[in-house]
Amino acid sequence: MFSGPKHLNAVRLLAFVFWLSAVACGKKQRGQRPHVVFVLADDFGFNDIGYHAREHYSDMYTPFLDSLAAKGVILENYYVQPICSPTRGQLLTGRYQIHTGLAHGIIRAAQPYGLPLDNILLSQQLRQCGYKTNMVGKWHLGFFREEYLPWNRGFQNFFGFLNGGVNHFTRYHCEPKKTRRFCGYDMIDSRYGPTNATYGEYSTNLFIRKSKEMIDKHNKQKPMFLYLSLQAVHGPLQVPNQYL
Ligand SMILES: *[C@@H]1O[C@H](CO)[C@@H](O)[C@H](O)[C@H]1NC(C)=O
Repeated sequence: MFSGPKHLNAVRLLAFVFWLSAVACGKKQRGQRPHVVFVLADDFGFNDIGYHAREHYSDMYTPFLDSLAAKGVILENYYVQPICSPTRGQLLTGRYQIHTGLAHGIIRAAQPYGLPLDNILLSQQLRQCGYKTNMVGKWHLGFFREEYLPWNRGFQNFFGFLNGGVNHFTRYHCEPKKTRRFCGYDMIDSRYGPTNATYGEYSTNLFIRKSKEMIDKHNKQKPMFLYLSLQAVHGPLQVPNQYL
C-alpha cells in the first residue's frame, strides 16, 4: 500500500499487531480497555506527508496530519509490503504473506481465493476480548465465498468495498483484460447488502461519515475497534472539484 523501496520487511508491523492485541486484551476490566481506531491510507508515499516533504524538497502540504504526528509517535522504520493483499493480510493476521499464501500479488475480482480461513484475524481476537468490531472501507482479502466476507471474519459491521479500487464517486470498476474483463459496482453494507445509495459521494468523505455514524451509535461502556481503511490516495486519481 505504501510505495517505497522493494526490500521491505514487516517485522515492526507484526510487532505492532501483537502489541495491539496485548494492550487491548490485557487483564483490565472491559470498561477500561482503550477504544482503537486504525486509519489506513492506501498507496500513501513516504514523502507524501508534510513533515517528510520538507526534508525532501517536495511541496506536499498536510497540516492536520502533521499536527497529529507532532502530538503522537512517529514510526520512521515502519515497513509494509509494497502492494495491497499481502500487506492487508499481514495487518490482520500478524503473519508474513508467505504463510498466508498471499505472496504472489493482489487478489483480482475474478480470482477464486482469499486470505485462508485458518488464520485468526485481529478483529476476531479483539471480539473475543469484548470489543465491538467495525470496519469501513477497502477489504481486498477475497470474497469468492461467504465465509471470506469481512462480516464473517470478526467484523460485526462492515461498510465498504471488496476489491482493490473503484471509481471514488460511482463505485464502478473494470479489471484489466489480462485478468479477464470483469466489470461491476462494488459497495456493500453488511446489514443490507450491495448498495447504490451513496452514489456520487466521494469515497473519503463517505467513509469518514460512516465511521462517525458508527462511533456516535456506539455504547461507550464497551471498547470499540474501528478499522477505517480509506481508498485514497489509491487510484483512480480523483478528488472533488474543490481540491483540484
Ligand atoms: C446508481 O445511482 C445513480 C444515481 O441515481 C444512477 O445514475 C446509477 O445508474 C445507479 N447505478 C446502478 C448500478 O443502479
